[in-house]
Amino acid sequence: MSGSPLQNPSISDLPSHPGVPVTLRGWLHNKRASGKIRFLILRDGSGYLQCVISKADVSPETWEAAGTAGQESTMQVCGVPRLEPRAPGGVELQVTDVKILDACHDWPITPKEHGTDFLLSQRHLWLRSSRQVAILKIRSEVESGIHDFFYKRGYTRVDSPILTPNACEGTSSLFETQYTEEEKAFLSQSGQLYLEPAAAALGKVYCFGPTFRAEKSKTRRHLREFWMVEPEVAFMEIDGLMDLAEEFVKELTVRVLDRRADDLKRLERDLTKLEPVVAKRFPRITYREAVEILKNKGFGVSFGDDFGGDEETALTAGYDTPVMVTRYPVAIKAFYMQPAGDDPEVVHGLDILAPEGYGEIIGGSQRIHSHDLLLERITKHSLPLEAFQWYLDVRKYGTFPHSGFGMGIERFVAWMCGVQHLRECIPYPRMLYRIYP
Ligand code: 4AD
Ligand code: MG
Repeated sequence: MSGSPLQNPSISDLPSHPGVPVTLRGWLHNKRASGKIRFLILRDGSGYLQCVISKADVSPETWEAAGTAGQESTMQVCGVPRLEPRAPGGVELQVTDVKILDACHDWPITPKEHGTDFLLSQRHLWLRSSRQVAILKIRSEVESGIHDFFYKRGYTRVDSPILTPNACEGTSSLFETQYTEEEKAFLSQSGQLYLEPAAAALGKVYCFGPTFRAEKSKTRRHLREFWMVEPEVAFMEIDGLMDLAEEFVKELTVRVLDRRADDLKRLERDLTKLEPVVAKRFPRITYREAVEILKNKGFGVSFGDDFGGDEETALTAGYDTPVMVTRYPVAIKAFYMQPAGDDPEVVHGLDILAPEGYGEIIGGSQRIHSHDLLLERITKHSLPLEAFQWYLDVRKYGTFPHSGFGMGIERFVAWMCGVQHLRECIPYPRMLYRIYP
């Protein structure tokens, strides 16, 4: 097959255009030689391409330049792609010309084991490695999947503010900034409070944006800046919320499995760990049941204790799907959560715990819709009433039951990718003691 030259081709275009001469630009990923043939692996972000250079086909200068170029040299190659099942991506390029646009030497990220600190300080370069590229592609797929999920279901995206006058998820992890000379502002911990009024305007809404937590702890599950997707739905109660969250996790998992198979393979992700997520119903247990399960596993927990990472891992140990936990004690959950009608000690809160030790990926709840009860909670939590007046207004003028959840996308991506630490699941991680680059 042949045809007219491709306009601005990428490596990923080649499998569907064998035989069509192309010119490509990118970076030298790897190379090897075998007698009078050199194999250069070119990468351009869309994929990897084996470029075959025969000494007899190119000028001596070109042959020499291809031999001395170091990893990450920028180059332009011309040639004709042909299907080759053994090559990465299933195509290889028979090269007619190579130009080294910028010869790179001493690329600092070599295949030898680097310490994490070194890699994090080289994050701007580390991003080019094939593992990081695969993770970023999966992250982008998840983001597109999120927007498609809600768009198909008639949700309106409503962007919440980042500078806010008050806390949403407790005051212990607030980033403070000077707003004017007299006034302070805080970086948003969650868009939720601003979505609730929008749900009264638009019915089904969601926000997606950066959120900030001044986490003092250094764990593999906590970032100080992370991206959260949050739906909020008018007239939805806790049972509807559980169904929505389960459908959401399933649909995103299918999306990643279907469309990012190559990246999962590159990450050596065990797909048999993700396939049950799509096929099976997620178990639903209450907090009280969870406490009993943990006691039977030897944990010294009792009603009112918050679960840490170890407890979350133990709770999901027997399952190959996420586990949904509901009906948490009032005392350990946020002020806005709706108490259960049949048990005032617990709230209609929902956490979804991912299997394989990935822990909480989703937190949500049904919200209090009674003005007087919410007022009571705000007072009990010693929150500044003036700051929450607008939030109370949502209950004053045409109140309605409503529910929503938040998913930190780095947690979800880490689980999909089988990556242990969230720092690899966001382009530039912000962690305690690390803000460079
Ligand atoms: O459980 P959280 O704190 O819930 C809320 O913020 C609610 N206002 C959301 C809502 O109902 N609209 O956070 C929600 C999710 C967690 O389940 C987790 O996935 C993620 O956000 N998350 C973090 N991800 C990375 N680093 C951190 N420090 C995180 N804190 C929470
Ligand atoms: Mg939570």
